Amino acid sequence: MGRGKLYSSRVVNIADLRRLASRRAPQVVFDYLDGGAEAEITLRENIRAFEKVTFRPRQAVAFATCDLSVRVLGSEIAFPAILAPVGYSRMMHAGGEVAAARAAGAAGTIYALSTISGHRLENVKAATSGPAWYQLYLVGGREAAEGAMERARQAGFSALVITVDTPVAGMRERDPRNGMKELLSGRVWRKIPFLPQVLSRPAWLTGFLLDGGLPKLENIILPGQGPMPLTDVTAALARSALTWADLRWIRQIWSGPIVVKGILLAEDARRAVDEGAAAIVVSNHGGRQLDSVSPTIRALPKVLAAVGGQVEVLMDGGVRRGSDIVKALAIGARAVLVGRAYAYGLAAAGQAGVQRALELLREDVERTLRLLGCSSVKELDRSYVEYPCDWENRP
Ligand SMILES: Cc1cc2nc3c(=O)[nH]c(=O)nc-3n(C[C@H](O)[C@H](O)[C@H](O)COP(=O)(O)O)c2cc1C
Repeated sequence: MGRGKLYSSRVVNIADLRRLASRRAPQVVFDYLDGGAEAEITLRENIRAFEKVTFRPRQAVAFATCDLSVRVLGSEIAFPAILAPVGYSRMMHAGGEVAAARAAGAAGTIYALSTISGHRLENVKAATSGPAWYQLYLVGGREAAEGAMERARQAGFSALVITVDTPVAGMRERDPRNGMKELLSGRVWRKIPFLPQVLSRPAWLTGFLLDGGLPKLENIILPGQGPMPLTDVTAALARSALTWADLRWIRQIWSGPIVVKGILLAEDARRAVDEGAAAIVVSNHGGRQLDSVSPTIRALPKVLAAVGGQVEVLMDGGVRRGSDIVKALAIGARAVLVGRAYAYGLAAAGQAGVQRALELLREDVERTLRLLGCSSVKELDRSYVEYPCDWENRP
């Protein structure tokens, strides 16, 4: 897709990038990216809960510049949104994780690389001028994880993200309907019923074939076998559920900061602090794991109260606009992570699409701050928002 289209009057928000992604990517890829678990209640509520937060603007104030920078785990980032780990990015666009990391660096923010990635982590780190984090699953076993941690350290990844909400993969009902398993691993004749959706997306298909077809999981090196095939992931995830005991083991190997991602409850937040996390991400995996859990922006105040400033608290889930980012920061998050908001851009147009997504969010954040009468994201606090009182601990 030409850059012109990304900057046309038809692309003014993330929902527009979502529409472009649905036109370029085959249904199976788009639905993997867009969908959630089971009835998709949490997926919807993550977004809807932001509507319950209202702003309290200070009128008739003006300032020349607006400061959007924040410090996260010692890195000063130009913009308070980090690119969340998104598995299978290379299936969305051949540029995949390398393209997304480059766009993150250009926007002055952090890229978090998923274990479920098709590009080598060394190439991803080399592509970004900004900091990068490595998200670790124990898929492939402890030996494979140890190898990845060592490679990530050598390549210069500054933090490790441990995702704790995936004891098994959630039931994303769109995937079996679209033939995800058959297309990834089935015999040829089993793929046939699902092929029209792929053949009807020639731009995506050309990119996929030129990229060499199905990528391997280049960052899960199975001892004696080499990179893990893409096909085995769901089953492998179920065999590699992570516990607090694993976190202790990881801490012995990884000396840098650890971010625990997937916290929803105050007691788990406290546990993560006690286990040595440097930061936590209030997250429900974008509504892709257990359905009917609390939307994350709603869970945020209680988690913040529980950790009492001992660690940095980040959040993700449902961020589709810069105003959502401002709301999360006003409630008390240090920064947010965005998943689908940038991945729609990636699926629509590779690096240029991610860049456009980040620009849209950045412009939104700055405009929202100016409309609020607040000159810096660091000055945001709860006096700028109102939200339902039952989001707080009851007295
Ligand atoms: C397509 C897709 C793949 C994801 N893969 C991973 C992953 O490999 N590891 C992980 O920790 N989180 C993964 N997530 C969850 C994101 O890191 C993040 O928590 C979530 O996308 C936030 O919600 P949002 O998409 O509404 O921004 C994935 C999310 C999506 C949409």
